[in-house]
Amino acid sequence: MRVLVTPDYESLSQTAADLIVKAIRVKPALRIGLPTGNTPLGLYEELVKKHREGTLDLSQVTTFNLDEFLGLPQGHPQSFHTYMRQHLFGNVNVPPQNIHIPNGSPGVDADAESKRYEEAIEKAGGLDLLVVGIGSNGHIAFNEPGAAFNSRTRVVDLAAETIANAQRQFGAEPAPRQAITMGIATMLEARRIVLLAAGAAKAGVVERALRGPATESLPASALQRHSEVIAILDEAASGPGKIG
Ligand code: GLP
Repeated sequence: MRVLVTPDYESLSQTAADLIVKAIRVKPALRIGLPTGNTPLGLYEELVKKHREGTLDLSQVTTFNLDEFLGLPQGHPQSFHTYMRQHLFGNVNVPPQNIHIPNGSPGVDADAESKRYEEAIEKAGGLDLLVVGIGSNGHIAFNEPGAAFNSRTRVVDLAAETIANAQRQFGAEPAPRQAITMGIATMLEARRIVLLAAGAAKAGVVERALRGPATESLPASALQRHSEVIAILDEAASGPGKIG
């Protein structure tokens, strides 16, 4: 695994954006897996900026989001559909038919949707590049501690810590307790993986994920099993002197 430590969040975002821009230049019809959360916000901002400047054309790109809450209408302000529209898709030119996000709307057969999603990735030819963040408990997408390394896209129960974190955004309304997520095996089949982590609060879990044993109790440690991973960290997340 390559580890790139950038001085701050802004340069982390720029570095990640440059990497994606380059990958799209090499392969305009890139198939890319995309995360939500706070960490990729700067990256999406950079991509939108580059698109507006005319240096990034996403018209042939296909995207697959990593996950979605279960039980929220797609238009809910906290759904990942809404997040992606606000921060990326509403501001760039990925054709709507090329955008894939698991459908976790109320009333959807979530098991069938998970299967359909996994098959859609496969039918598209797999992911060329997967961008992923890391939860404070070591989750990747919504693969919580204990998730099998051979897991596929499926319905999962969220960890108490994940629900508590989400609750801050949901206010008085109860946060979802389940989600549809790509599995760890689904993610590891991507040809290249870019892990993003920022901030001192992530330093401990990043250190364990990259340098500790690969164990299902820490889902992000599965990334050690992939030969083409680049971890882009800001200095705070690298825990100065420990990683890099
Ligand atoms: C969320 C998402 C993950 C994300 C993680 C970290 O629960 N499902 O894909 O990587 O939490 O989020 P943040 O970047 O806000 O720390």
